[in-house]
Amino acid sequence: MEQAKKEIILSGIRSTGNLHLGNYYGALRKFVEIQDKHDCNFFIADLHALTTATDPEALHNSVKCVLAEYLAAGIDPEKATIFIQSDIPEVSEMYLLLNMHVGIGELMRTASFKDKARKALGIKAPGEGEEDSDEAFEHQIIGAETNKRVNAGLLTYPTLMAVDILIQKATKVPVGKDQLQHLELTRRFARRFNSFYGVDLFPEPSDFDLTGGKPVKVPGLDGSGKMGKSEGNCIYLVDDPKVLRKKVMRATTDEGPKEPNSPMSEPVANLFTLLELTSTPDVVTHFRDAYADCSIRYGDLKKQLAEDILAVTTPIRERVNDILSNEDYMRKVVREGAERARARASETLKEVRHIMGIRSI
Ligand code: TYM
Repeated sequence: MEQAKKEIILSGIRSTGNLHLGNYYGALRKFVEIQDKHDCNFFIADLHALTTATDPEALHNSVKCVLAEYLAAGIDPEKATIFIQSDIPEVSEMYLLLNMHVGIGELMRTASFKDKARKALGIKAPGEGEEDSDEAFEHQIIGAETNKRVNAGLLTYPTLMAVDILIQKATKVPVGKDQLQHLELTRRFARRFNSFYGVDLFPEPSDFDLTGGKPVKVPGLDGSGKMGKSEGNCIYLVDDPKVLRKKVMRATTDEGPKEPNSPMSEPVANLFTLLELTSTPDVVTHFRDAYADCSIRYGDLKKQLAEDILAVTTPIRERVNDILSNEDYMRKVVREGAERARARASETLKEVRHIMGIRSI
């Protein structure tokens, strides 16, 4: 038990609106499961949200929504430290310092940067099987004939994420599959810093799944790979039952299997992935068997899926408004959380400044 207690867990979610099922299964559910056993730190990444957010009021409101949804989903401030990223000014200073050890090239080659930069400039990504050459990408970004911008914050997003993790000396970082490359970069930056200065300051963090499984990717309902806000295919935790049922009933499918044991198309496989996350093994087996012997009716599967998702989201949705109406409580949670998170952050920053030669005379 004492040994287990030593793990420092840290993760965050950007404040870009309400949380969706991808955030829930990729991150939030794990936060709740592990909070009893470890030194847990969960934050709201409002500085990361700034890389794409442009409306100050919306950003501010999103911080409150994410906090309320954290609490409604069951993160307990008595067990875990909950804080807002920008309440830890040490993070911003260390971001500047760590950037001196990060290459522009490695940042430009990050998949999430390519994706977001292309979206911002309206450039089409290479299709399945087409080569995604770094040179062609750099040419597109640097030479983009458009007055739209890709801000430098988007490029240095992985530095900021690494700082969130390293400043708390976190050892485990529960995230969804889409964040694994950022975690890999964090390990690389930690190793580089340690070896450049000949110190043993930062542990190398790894991903974490209490269930022993791999980080998940929750698919969208439109047949595409990933559920995400910019993909516009989300089921939100606070979706009202009518809206949620409608979204699920409209999910993309195909004409149904024509022969026993046919392979599944991607949209149908995605529905089964969602079913596996939300339903009991019996239900999943029932529909898998029905698919295999061609008796499946997608309408039945969707109805079941919608009810099983609602069983997960309804208790959360019902608590959110109560929490949102209690601003004093929310303020207390993040004030106390920031105090704890700052204590460790300022210790680490002091060490980093000293190691790098930033010392007062
Ligand atoms: P964000 O807000 O994009 O995502 C928050 C968490 O939700 C997970 N997630 C998903 N998981 C599975 N399937 C999906 N469709 C899906 N969509 C989102 C993400 O993997 C993530 O775990 N960069 C982080 C925020 C961050 C952070 C950190 C995380 C900033 N600093 C330090 C950990 C440690 C992010 O992806 O936010």
